[in-house]
Amino acid sequence: MRSVVKGGNPLKEARLFLGEDWKRYREILSRYMRGRIPLLDRILRFIMRYRGKEMRPLFLLLTARLFGRLNESVHRAAVMVEILHNATLVHDDVVDDALKRRGFFSVKTLWGNRIAVLVGDFLLARGLLLAVDNNDWDSLRVLSRAVKAMSEGELFQAETARKHNWTEQIYFEIIRLKTASLFAVCTGLAAKVQGLPEEDVEKWYWFGEQLGIAFQIQDDVLDFQKKTGKSMGQDVKEGKLSLPVIYAMEKMPLTKKWEFLRLLRNASKKKNFERIKSIVEEYDGFTYARNKANFYMQRAYEFLKQFSDREAYPYLKNLIDFILRRDK
Ligand code: IPE
Ligand code: IPE
Ligand code: MG
Ligand code: MG
Repeated sequence: MRSVVKGGNPLKEARLFLGEDWKRYREILSRYMRGRIPLLDRILRFIMRYRGKEMRPLFLLLTARLFGRLNESVHRAAVMVEILHNATLVHDDVVDDALKRRGFFSVKTLWGNRIAVLVGDFLLARGLLLAVDNNDWDSLRVLSRAVKAMSEGELFQAETARKHNWTEQIYFEIIRLKTASLFAVCTGLAAKVQGLPEEDVEKWYWFGEQLGIAFQIQDDVLDFQKKTGKSMGQDVKEGKLSLPVIYAMEKMPLTKKWEFLRLLRNASKKKNFERIKSIVEEYDGFTYARNKANFYMQRAYEFLKQFSDREAYPYLKNLIDFILRRDK
């Protein structure tokens, strides 16, 4: 077994471990991230150049590797989740009016909302067609469901943002839909394509869902910090209340709440944002959110332990740890 260096880069180590499987995934990805229209092709190249962490394909491929060798349909599934993920990000930046993504300008900033919507549509169709063209019906079914869930999650969030009636329960429902649904597909589909019995496949969906929930909570905590490659404070500025804020609001006395709500309404002012951050800190909102993320991560980790004799295990475990250790 290749040694897993403590404190090393878990993404890079996982890619090295996957070797030929990663190479194949990338080949298919590059082949499908092309367009016949010059403008489209330019934007697709741009997305590929500033690509992200590719955590979803890593989770999918590593999970699949727990159960043996991979065939082409697993590589294709990894490509589909990454393409669909990119589609939702291009759309999400329109929805959130986000200036930046992955340390550079977003597609919507560079080419405008109209083009971004169309490119997002193209990518959604591209991802799903990859399944259709290869008769990957299992992939098509669960990925279509995830796309539907993600849209519902974004719409539910938009509706809630307007109404300001956030509760912890609503927050969890939103992140389950918009983020955890795709993570669930990564690990669930990996188990399915590798031929595991249906009851086990269900457990792997559950596993991915826990990861996705932890991932989004951490992402929302990171929104208050610098150096994520996105603009800081994007969430509160857009009226989106994440777990640290919701928790702090539940804890503060009513008198304080009015002041806090006023700050939230004018969160785009830098001074107000800093004030919001320090109040959330004061009421342990960040600690609470981190503990929650950790709770979901631990559940996933406990489940994974039964496979600790597998070659892919340490890489998968380190990738789970990375969900909370990451800073971008
Ligand atoms: C960002 O996901 C969107 C969320 C679900 C929070 P990632 O952080 O995985 O995005 P990239 O692909 O690495 O940029
Ligand atoms: C992530 O939503 C996009 C989807 C899950 C569809 P967010 O708006 O919370 O993520 P970032 O912060 O822009 O990456
Ligand atoms: Mg966003
Ligand atoms: Mg969003």
